[in-house]
Formats: sequence, C-alpha cells, structure tokens
Amino acid sequence: MSILVTGATGKIGRHIVRELLAAEKDVLILTRYPQKVEPQPGLTVIQGDLTLPEGLSATLSRVEKAFLFPVLPAIGPFAEAARKAGVRRVVLFTGAWAAGLTERDLGSWVLPRYRAAEDALAGSGVPEWTVLRPAPFATNALWWAASIRDEGVVRLPYPDAVCPVIHEADIAASVVAALLGDGRHGARHTITGPALVSQAEQVAAIGEAIGRSLRVERIPAEQWRSDAERFLRPGIAGDLLREWSETARDPSTALPVLPAVTELTGRPARSFTRWAADHTADFAVV
Ligand SMILES: NC(=O)c1ccc[n+]([C@@H]2O[C@H](COP(=O)([O-])OP(=O)(O)OC[C@H]3O[C@@H](n4cnc5c(N)ncnc54)[C@H](OP(=O)(O)O)[C@@H]3O)[C@@H](O)[C@H]2O)c1
Repeated sequence: MSILVTGATGKIGRHIVRELLAAEKDVLILTRYPQKVEPQPGLTVIQGDLTLPEGLSATLSRVEKAFLFPVLPAIGPFAEAARKAGVRRVVLFTGAWAAGLTERDLGSWVLPRYRAAEDALAGSGVPEWTVLRPAPFATNALWWAASIRDEGVVRLPYPDAVCPVIHEADIAASVVAALLGDGRHGARHTITGPALVSQAEQVAAIGEAIGRSLRVERIPAEQWRSDAERFLRPGIAGDLLREWSETARDPSTALPVLPAVTELTGRPARSFTRWAADHTADFAVV
C-alpha cells in the first residue's frame, strides 16, 4: 500500500515527497500537470484534480495514508471518498488562524473556512486524521523577490509587524511525522517557527544571505491591499493587514512561538536566517 501526497509539486509538498522517499515509502502523487514531475524510483504520478473527487476512487483504493493539500472546497468530498476506499490515515494542514489563539484570529475571515474544512475531515469517519495549523509561511517573503532583485527594495505597510513564520521544510517534516508516527491523530496541532521575527528583520536576513544592502520603504496599507488583491483573496488581504497593524503596534498580540514542531519531529524549528540562506537563488540577480 502507498502513501498519497497531494500538493506534491508545491513548495511544501516537494519536501514531503523527498522525506517519504528517503524513508523508502511507496509514494503516489496526485497532480493536475504530471508533465511537471521528474520520474524517480518509488514515485508514481497520477493525473487528477482534488475538486473532482469522483475520479479519485481507483487511486484511493491503493492508498493506506494520504496527505491532503488544503484546496478547501475539496476537503469534505475527498475525506468521504477516502473513508469509502478504506484509507486509514489522512493528514491535512490549514493555518494557525484556525486555532483562534488571539481575539483578532477569532474574528478573521479565514477562521470559519479553515474550521469547516478541518471539521469535514474530523467528521468523515476516516479512522486516523490529523490537522496541522502552520503559522504564516516564511515563503511569503518570496512576494518580495522581484523588487529585491530589480531595485534592492521591499515596500511594506507595517515593517515592524512580527510573526513566528515557519520554514516550509518544517511544515513538511511535521506532515511526515504525522503520516509515519503514532499518537498524533485525532488532534489539531498549531506549528510555528522558533522566534518572532519582524518583516524588517526578514528583509535584513535576506540581504545578509545574498550579500546586498536592502532598503525597506514604507507604503500606505491601501496601496499594499490594491497590489495584493491581484494574487490574494480580499478576505485574506484584510486578515493580514489587521494582523500586521496590531502586531507592529503591540508585539505581545502576535501568535506565540509554540513547541509543536520539536514535539512532532524531534528537531527544533528552522530560523528565518536559515530560510534566507536556503533561498538565496530566489533573490539573486541573474
Ligand atoms: N501563505 C501562508 O502564510 C499560509 C499559511 C497557512 C496556510 N496557507 C495555505 O497554504 C496553501 C498555499 O500553499 P503554497 O503557496 O505553499 O502552495 P503551492 O506551493 O502554490 O502549491 C500548490 C499545490 O496545490 C496543488 N493544487 C492546487 N489546486 C489543486 C487541485 N484542484 N487539485 C490537485 N492539486 C491542486 C498544486 O498541484 P498541481 O499544480 O501540480 O496540480 C500544487 O502542488 C493555501 O491553501 C493557503 O490557504 C498558507
């Protein structure tokens, strides 16, 4: 029996696949674009779309465990199809906002959407389910890559906003721990990076990693919102602006640093400095 990885071609999923292959597991990946995937021993590529779960039953009948990428409307139908096919364990990630650890998160646009997806999995009858709720991703700093490469500048409405951003490799390692380990299921784990780090500090760490002095330019929140709404849903852009303005004013209102990555994986969470060092190619002038 195999382990199914959805989202395998993405920033987190590729680390999950690498770790599972290193553990000598048979891995099936589901992608809409199989031509994007390099063939590897132990890896089987299936073409499919999470929003079309009726096409997934033949694949799911070969699967013992699955990692489910948060294509939110697809979670309930996928979990139902997985239960029917006899999949024993499903691991899903949503986001730390779903934990409702701050007043701000309780009123967020995204919380009811993440909770509905989590509840659909928890109530599906899949025998062993686990939800991971990652802090905002360190990879959000890739939004700055073009202006760093072209101008050496990052334009931010709240440079002092702080957050325990998480390295995508730590999200992946936590997913793998939940897939392969016991005692994690039937629970929702909020996972964070190892320290609160401000956006200005993130820019400085990227500058240090690529050996360039980078400038932060403060812009009005509404300018950021109108730029961001080209690639983010308006509800998420609003949640982010609220979080940044509050944590810039009062860092004690930030999502706290939590020990779950270490508890799940047995290793400390990677720092933002490490993330910047791992991503120099994304910011390098070519
Ligand atoms: N950014 C944050 O701070 C943050 C925090 C918490 C949670 N999140 C959540 O993280 C997700 C984005 O993560 P990311 O930026 O790391 O993703 P990403 O690297 O862009 O990867 C997206 C993956 O999703 C797969 N996918 C998308 N739609 C699919 C579909 N209909 N059927 C099958 N596969 C599909 C893609 O596979 P193919 O293209 O190969 O089919 C790809 O592998 C969002 O759901 C967001 O809500 C983000």
